[in-house]
Amino acid sequence: MNNKLIIATLCTALLAGCGEGDKQPEVQGKGLRQYDKNVLARGERVFLTNCAVCHGNGGEGKPGWQQPGPDGKLLPPPLDGNGRVWRLTSSQMKQFVHQGSPDGRANMPAWQGKLSDQEIDEVITWITSLWSDAIYLQWVTKVGQAQN
Ligand code: HEC
Repeated sequence: MNNKLIIATLCTALLAGCGEGDKQPEVQGKGLRQYDKNVLARGERVFLTNCAVCHGNGGEGKPGWQQPGPDGKLLPPPLDGNGRVWRLTSSQMKQFVHQGSPDGRANMPAWQGKLSDQEIDEVITWITSLWSDAIYLQWVTKVGQAQN
């Protein structure tokens, strides 16, 4: 398949995923990127309550995040598309949020048992909504998926 065809196929798959059920959710965005507004609103609330203290209200991360902090641990990276988070599939992101930093290499807490699976799904969806179209497209084409 050429790239255009892959993108077209993914669009169709994404759109089909958005329209589940009889009632069409109110959507935000266009084309490849369509988000259920209620999901975004809930995801943002989860983020502002639990994540913004480290990652910033807009997911911009801590200044100087590329270098470890004074304790030698990694600092909270941006989640808004200016960091490396888009190199993870959405299931890898969810797993990361469930389990926190591996091996205590940083202070990202584990959210398993504190947030529901739905809350974690929705906060990840909100995070992807922060990215530019260009980053989103790279995620879909290079990382190879958006939905699993
Ligand atoms: C106490 C500070 C802190 C809080 C609160 C926090 N994080 Fe993090 N987060 C971090 C740090 C530090 C890292 C880097 C961890 C690493 O690479 O091991 C990180 C990494 C991540 C990553 C991987 C990003 C990447 O580029 O590799 C994701 C996704 C993430 N956080 C999402 C969240 C979400 C969602 C929440 C709220 C439910 C949250 N974080 C709350 C500190 C925090």
